[in-house]
Amino acid sequence: MSATLRFDNIGKVFPGVRALDGVSFEVDAGQVHGLMGENGAGKSTLLKILGGEYQPDSGRILMDGKEVRFPSAAASIAAGVAVIHQELQYVPDLTVTENLLLGRLPSAFGWVNKRGAKRFVQERLAQMGVDLDPNARLGRLSIAQRQMVEICKALLRNARVIALDEPTSSLSHRETEVLFKLVRELQADGRALIYISHRMDEIYELCTACTIFRDGRKVTSHPSLAEVKRDTIVKEMVGREITDIYGYRPRRQGEVRLAVEAVEGHGLAAPASFSVRAGEILGFFGLVGAGRSELMRLVYGAEKRRGGQLTLDGAPTDVKSPTHAIRQGIVLCPEDRKEEGIVAMASVAENINISCRRHELRAGLFLNRKKEAETADRFIKLLKIKTPSRRQKIRLLSGGNQQKAILSRWLAEPDLKVVILDEPTRGIDVGAKHEIYNVIYELAERGCAVVMVSSELPEVLGVSDRIVVMREGRISGELARGEASEPALLELALPQGGRAAREAA
Ligand SMILES: Nc1ncnc2c1ncn2[C@@H]1O[C@H](COP(=O)(O)OP(=O)(O)O)[C@@H](O)[C@H]1O
Ligand SMILES: [Mg+2]
Repeated sequence: MSATLRFDNIGKVFPGVRALDGVSFEVDAGQVHGLMGENGAGKSTLLKILGGEYQPDSGRILMDGKEVRFPSAAASIAAGVAVIHQELQYVPDLTVTENLLLGRLPSAFGWVNKRGAKRFVQERLAQMGVDLDPNARLGRLSIAQRQMVEICKALLRNARVIALDEPTSSLSHRETEVLFKLVRELQADGRALIYISHRMDEIYELCTACTIFRDGRKVTSHPSLAEVKRDTIVKEMVGREITDIYGYRPRRQGEVRLAVEAVEGHGLAAPASFSVRAGEILGFFGLVGAGRSELMRLVYGAEKRRGGQLTLDGAPTDVKSPTHAIRQGIVLCPEDRKEEGIVAMASVAENINISCRRHELRAGLFLNRKKEAETADRFIKLLKIKTPSRRQKIRLLSGGNQQKAILSRWLAEPDLKVVILDEPTRGIDVGAKHEIYNVIYELAERGCAVVMVSSELPEVLGVSDRIVVMREGRISGELARGEASEPALLELALPQGGRAAREAA
């Protein structure tokens, strides 16, 4: 039997980068094929070729043994392929229904039969367990909801080959469960699926086979994932052995730098208090939606506080706005780095320097191009940002490398006292995570108070000196590094009496 989908010797070069170099592998019907590799390894490029967005420079794609050509996205869709891209493109003004039926109209329903279309969409969404108003405009939806709409679209088209590029990086636990259920149904239905993720747990949970990329080349394909150890995969991706990705370094702590007392406001169910010392890394664990990001935004002045008191280095302070916070040496690197932070048309160097620039311009200093170039090069090297040069437009970098560039922006800030990092390693590969943890330790060693919000249990446990846990808008407990364990943190994080949730976690 011939494979449903086969990549044969695919190559693709961009100016200054060989994104893919002779890649071949096959995906069978009824298979969920994991695609793994560090940021910039070429995974998204391959899916863009499959989706008809890019043309390969060499090689062929075969479906059921026959060569297919996708000169456009429409051609790929017509051949029964659905690619759900990492960076979702969407028209903010379209409604959910209009978007879902895009490209199907008028054959299936005709514009006239909008009511029929809406009913159809409503039924499908309900079936998928997705709670969405078919009339909602896409611009008003969360990233997760937009992602669900894209997946619905693939289902509606009855695609035979479905490829998902890091679909869970912005999904909550529950949304991820919904997605997994869907993927399994599609698999049972005999579709061929490609699944890209940096999360090893997900790969092992969902995928039967997997292929590993490094620097645009295929390292290997594992036809049966069950027999492969995680360490082997990490080594194949990174090209070296990483025994302890956290590499925790204990250090001396100083006085309390930031004390937050009884802060109240949007997203919190009760007044919240915590403090963090100079040189300390304070982890904030909780399920998505527990109120951690909201609390940090209140501390940072990005959201209005209704009450409470902040103390910085022993003196009361009112952080009125993010600008005010930055001026006092408090920075917050937000969770949605891309949405909030990227200047797409600017270069990597400009994106890294943006926040230093703000400082210096305010202080009436001239731009120091040489210094900026040095800072950019330092972080490109430190975090292994994959780019032909610091002058490359940031939007041409792979998703994870954009994340790294934006994270550098905060880490490059001078005279930091308090650094709040919200999900600092989301969407970032193992090798780069390791580098980011090192930057975090360095910040703390320099005397910064670091707050790290993370939903990844092993990361919180691996990096923090102390861990605060939030549940349903309130702080539910605190554990020192020595007393923290996975069960102890989950106990504090899961809704009380929520047995189902406990099992799901
Ligand atoms: N349109 C483009 N122009 C220039 N370089 C690109 C473009 N798209 C991707 N690249 C480069 O190709 C390489 C592979 O990127 P990508 O396929 O996005 O990696 P991955 O998805 O594995 O993280 C990266 O070095 C990236 O910067
Ligand atoms: Mg990618």
